[in-house]
Amino acid sequence: MSGRLVLGLMSGTSHDGVDAALVRVVNRGRPRLIKHTHVSYPPALRDMIVRAFEGGTADVCRLGFELGEVFARATLKCAKEAGVSPSDIEAVASHGQTVCHIPPKGNRKGSTLQIGEPSVIAQRTGIKVVSDFRTADMALGGQGAPLVPFADHLLFSKRATCCVQNIGGISNVTVVTEKLDDVRAFDTGPGNSLIDDAMKLLFGGKPFDRGGKVAKRGTPDARLLKKLLGHPYFSKKPPKSTGRETFGAEFLRGILKQNRKIRPEDLVATLTHLTARSIRDAYDRFVLPKHHIREIILSGGGAKNTFLLGLLKEQFAPIKVTLTDDYGIPSPAKEAMSFAILANETLGGRPSSLPRVTGASRAAVLGKITLP
Ligand SMILES: Nc1ncnc2c1ncn2[C@@H]1O[C@H](COP(=O)(O)OP(=O)(O)O)[C@@H](O)[C@H]1O
Ligand SMILES: [Mg+2]
Repeated sequence: MSGRLVLGLMSGTSHDGVDAALVRVVNRGRPRLIKHTHVSYPPALRDMIVRAFEGGTADVCRLGFELGEVFARATLKCAKEAGVSPSDIEAVASHGQTVCHIPPKGNRKGSTLQIGEPSVIAQRTGIKVVSDFRTADMALGGQGAPLVPFADHLLFSKRATCCVQNIGGISNVTVVTEKLDDVRAFDTGPGNSLIDDAMKLLFGGKPFDRGGKVAKRGTPDARLLKKLLGHPYFSKKPPKSTGRETFGAEFLRGILKQNRKIRPEDLVATLTHLTARSIRDAYDRFVLPKHHIREIILSGGGAKNTFLLGLLKEQFAPIKVTLTDDYGIPSPAKEAMSFAILANETLGGRPSSLPRVTGASRAAVLGKITLP
């Protein structure tokens, strides 16, 4: 079979675990997913990520090496499950765990930090690693995000014009058009991040609202929802990107402080509605006035929240809401697959960032290469 095997690793802002996607990539051809594996993080590792996110150089330092080990194990597990020898894999594309993301603002230059030591992955697996995908774009003044639009275009441009909406910790949309130059994308705001944090705080450390069951039995607080939808990020024009620095634990603590009387399930319902409504509002403001969209294809763990999925279907009708699963890509695998596609461009020395999306001065070859 033609093409080469690249294994993508995605550990997103939900820090729920790492998704590994073994992909057969063909230059300028349609990539094919061979195998998807998810490795959950044990609670202690999740806590370590939260601590690293909240500061502490030593925590960040230790975590980078620890995650390198976890990523290497996920790589070997995925290869084994696929029945593929690591020596047949051309490269590992490791996004890394974001511990800080500061988009450029006015005169302030942007910066970003993804960790998960590529040398550890390369030494344990014997495979070349492409990592640190966001820095080149940021060095050129870009947001360093979203980077998946290049891959979304390759995967879905036959269905143009559609939107690919990923719901991870943060949510991002790609408007997939026929021509790559016309593709637009930005972060719409929170995905699961606030829901997950609320579950952890208010429901005895539960990591997330499985199936949206808690949100379903709650009632959204209309006044609070309206206030949250007034957050300045939502009306800000793209290019834009965001992270847990804006929609994370600190934001949630502020909400809880000011709304002590609200019942826990009502708060989770309000935050779930916030995710759905902020996505709809983003389309109303920045997508639908310019593009005729027939279909929205969802990916990310948020697509497994059936209550949230129901809200989105209701809000977007008559626009069809589908899942990447309907096109042979399990929704949790899509981002990992996308980074495998980007790494293939990197290995070929081709740029894959879209300056119109990130705001950078030009397109860049993304990532750094670590040899085993
Ligand atoms: N069965 C489910 N029901 C509800 N939410 C889910 C389910 N499975 C996953 N999720 C949500 O998806 C998140 C993980 O999504 P993911 O796409 O991996 O995000 P990230 O890229 O930020 O890590 C979990 O933290 C959780 O909020
Ligand atoms: Mg994840």
